[in-house]
Amino acid sequence: MAVYAVFGSGGGLGEALVRALYERDPEAEIHGFSRRPCPDQLADITNLIWHQYTGEVLDAAAAAVQKWQQEGVFLNGVISTIGWLHRIDADHGEWQPERRLEQLNSEQLQEYFRVNATIPALLIQILKPVLAKKKRCFVVQLGAKVGSIGDNQLGGWYGYRASKAALNMLFKTAAIELKRTHKLLTLAVIHPGTTDTPLSEPFQDRLPKDKLYSPEQSAQRICSVIWNLTPQESGDFWFWDGERLPW
Ligand SMILES: NC(=O)c1ccc[n+]([C@@H]2O[C@H](COP(=O)([O-])OP(=O)(O)OC[C@H]3O[C@@H](n4cnc5c(N)ncnc54)[C@H](OP(=O)(O)O)[C@@H]3O)[C@@H](O)[C@H]2O)c1
Repeated sequence: MAVYAVFGSGGGLGEALVRALYERDPEAEIHGFSRRPCPDQLADITNLIWHQYTGEVLDAAAAAVQKWQQEGVFLNGVISTIGWLHRIDADHGEWQPERRLEQLNSEQLQEYFRVNATIPALLIQILKPVLAKKKRCFVVQLGAKVGSIGDNQLGGWYGYRASKAALNMLFKTAAIELKRTHKLLTLAVIHPGTTDTPLSEPFQDRLPKDKLYSPEQSAQRICSVIWNLTPQESGDFWFWDGERLPW
């Protein structure tokens, strides 16, 4: 029986990815990690173990790894959807992606890097002891095409773009290192396409209708990319249709 973990499983794409993994592999055990309770829409998935946590996701992951090590559990796949673009919270008020240099501020930039790049990289570090070595295994982080430096034609969204570019470098570097010890492991950053979730919601009106995808559609496409990846391709950056994206 395969074991998968989805981090950010309570978000728009996270929930759809849990469902898509279940549909691909109904026998698998799926661990969902989220600050939110398990959505009712996933209640029928009996092999889903929901880890609702308070505090930091890295602490929740470390606690799970400790338990998996005691139980001799190895993961066959990890998907992290963790990321942010805009938010409103009690401490900072409203944070929107920066369009001009005058809008840059150090605290917001640091928060983009912390959540969009640092957390995904440290997740690999924490999960490394339980990544399967004898069977194929994948670690996928959802990235963004706007994190491609080569593809940046429009500018804007400084912190989001830069943090997703940093994510790409961290994954590429980890893939090179882990190729030595985990020969069947594939690391990948995948751009899901613009998907109808809370993250994209404020920016959807500029989009042609046929360029906005449902979470279910995007999750199916992401799983197709994952299932076609080989360990030789570890460390690359993919579009949702399976084409490589430029760095
Ligand atoms: N939607 C799009 O059009 C689009 C396009 C390109 C790339 N992406 C990328 O796809 C991923 C998923 O986005 P989405 O559209 O599903 O957005 P979403 O519904 O807002 O989900 C974002 C996820 O990130 C997690 N997260 C945010 N801040 C976190 C933090 N500080 N610590 C831990 N977890 C945190 C949330 O976890 P909880 O479950 O705990 O709330 C949530 O599950 C993101 O990485 C995003 O950059 C999305």
